[in-house]
Amino acid sequence: MAINHPSFGKLDPNRVIIFDTTLRDGEQSPGFSMNISEKIRMAEALTELGVDVIEAGFPIASPGDFESVKAIAESHIGQNAEGPVICGLARSGREDVMRAGEAIVPARRKRIHSFISTSPLHMKHKLRMEPEDVLQAVGDSVALARNYTDDVEWSAEDGTRTEDDFLCRCVESAIRNGATTINIPDTVGYALPEDMMRIFTMILERVPGADQVVLSTHNHNDLGLAVANTIAALRAGVRQIECTINGIGERAGNASLEEIVMAIRTRHDAVPYDNKIQTKNILRTSKLLSTITGFDVQPNKAIVGRNAFAHEAGIHQDGVLKLAATYEIMTPESVGWAKNSLVLGKHSGRAAFRDRLETLGYKIGQNQLNDAFRRFKDLADRKKVVFDEDIVALVDDEVMRDHERIRFEALDLRCGSKGPATADLELVVDGEKRTASATGDGPVDATFNAIQKIFPHTANLVLFSVGAVTEGTDAQARTTVRLEENGKMVDGQGSDTDTIVASARAYVHALNKLIVKRERTEPVALTV
Ligand code: KIV
Ligand code: ZN
Repeated sequence: MAINHPSFGKLDPNRVIIFDTTLRDGEQSPGFSMNISEKIRMAEALTELGVDVIEAGFPIASPGDFESVKAIAESHIGQNAEGPVICGLARSGREDVMRAGEAIVPARRKRIHSFISTSPLHMKHKLRMEPEDVLQAVGDSVALARNYTDDVEWSAEDGTRTEDDFLCRCVESAIRNGATTINIPDTVGYALPEDMMRIFTMILERVPGADQVVLSTHNHNDLGLAVANTIAALRAGVRQIECTINGIGERAGNASLEEIVMAIRTRHDAVPYDNKIQTKNILRTSKLLSTITGFDVQPNKAIVGRNAFAHEAGIHQDGVLKLAATYEIMTPESVGWAKNSLVLGKHSGRAAFRDRLETLGYKIGQNQLNDAFRRFKDLADRKKVVFDEDIVALVDDEVMRDHERIRFEALDLRCGSKGPATADLELVVDGEKRTASATGDGPVDATFNAIQKIFPHTANLVLFSVGAVTEGTDAQARTTVRLEENGKMVDGQGSDTDTIVASARAYVHALNKLIVKRERTEPVALTV
C-alpha cells in the first residue's frame, strides 16, 4: 500500500527521499563549521541539486545554529512550496523540541527530527537512564513535536547496536505518537550490510504500522561501509536515505550523497529506485562545499575526486578512446564534469562572463558580478588559459566576501634568499583604507604580520595549507587558514594566481569569520 506522507503526499513505492544532513551532521565535524551566509549558499545549491529534505541544523546547540535554521526557513529556500522540507534536529527533551519547532516555524514545509539513544551502552553510560524512561521520552518527544508540524522524524541513536525487542517497542511508540519517518542510524559505523537487511526486515515484520511510515537509514563510515549499508537498507524496504555531500560528517563521515545517487542510477537494474537529484549539479555542489570549508576531497574520491574519471594506464586510455564504456561505468558529464573546461580569455566581455556563470549555475547580483568580472579580467591577464574551475574559485571567493568588515585590497612583497621578507599591505577595514609594512620569516609570515599590524588580534594560526585549483605553474592557488581564539576555531579560504595574495585573502576571510563568531555565545553541552 502506498504511504501517504504529510510533506510528499502519496509516495510511489519506488520513490526514495534524499535527506541531506551536510548542514547538520556534516557541519558538526571539526573544521567544517559554516556561518549563516555560507549555510544559505549551501542550502541553495542543495535545492538546485534536488534534495527532498535539508537538515539545516541543531537549533538548541547554539544561538548560531538556531539562527541559521531559522534563516534558511525564512529564506526563498524555505518559502518555496516546491522546495525542500526544512528540518531541525532535537534531542528528546521539551526544550530541545520546542527550540527546533520555533526555528522551523517560517518554512512552508517543515520537519522536526527528534532522537534518543536506545542501545544498552548509550542508555546506561551516556544517558544514565532506564530503558522504560527512554521509551517514555520517545513517545513524549514525538507527541510534542507534532504540535509544530505533521512531518516528524524519530531516530533511535545507536540503533544498530540496540536490542531487537526494545528497538521494536521504541519504534512502535514513535509511530503511535505520530512519527511519519522512522530512522535507524548506524551511529558508530559498526553495522554490516546484512545487519541492515535484518534490522529493517524485522521492523517491517514486527512493528504495527511500520509499513505506513517512511523508514530511513543514516550510516556513518567508520568501517568504510556507509554507502554499502545504505544500499542494503534500501533493498530491505527503506525509502529515505540520510547522506551528506562529499560524505562529510562525524569522525569518518556519513554516507556520501553522490556515491549513493550514482550507484542507484548506474545500477538501476539491481537498485530500481527513483529520486529527484539533478546529477549534473553534483560536482558543482561538491566543489562549493570544498570552497566554503577549505577541504578538498581526496583525488581518488568516487564521483567528485580529481582522478575519478582520469585514465592513466595506456591500455585504459586506448580502450576509452575507442569506446568510453570500456572503462567508464557512467559519463563524467552526467555528474557535471565538463568535456572541455577551457572557457574564456582576456578578450571575453561581461556578457560572455555572465553567460558562463549562468551555465555554471551561478546567479549573482550586479555588484558581485562587477567585482567578479574585474577579478576575472585581472586573472585572464595573468593566466594563459582560464578554466571553469578558475571561474568557480574566483566567484566563490568573491561571494564569500560579501558583507565582510575587512577586505583585502593590495599587497607588495620583497622576498628571496637574502634576508627577511617585507610585505606592504593595504586592507579596507569598515570602509576605511589602512596600510602597514611588516617583515617576517618569509613572505607569508611578513604578510600575516602586516595583517596583525592593521587589525590587531589575539587569534593563533593553527593551520595553513595551500592547494592548486587547476594544473600548471600559472594555476590559481587555493589556501586555507585556520585561526583559533579562546577555543573558537574558524577556517578562511582564498584563491589567486599569487600564493601569498591567496594566503592574505584566506587570513582576512578567517578574521572576518572570527569577528562574527566572537559575537555568538558558546554552544551548550549536549549530553542527554
Ligand atoms: O548518527 C546519528 O545517530 C545521528 C542522529 C542524530 C540521527 O546523527
Ligand atoms: Zn549521524
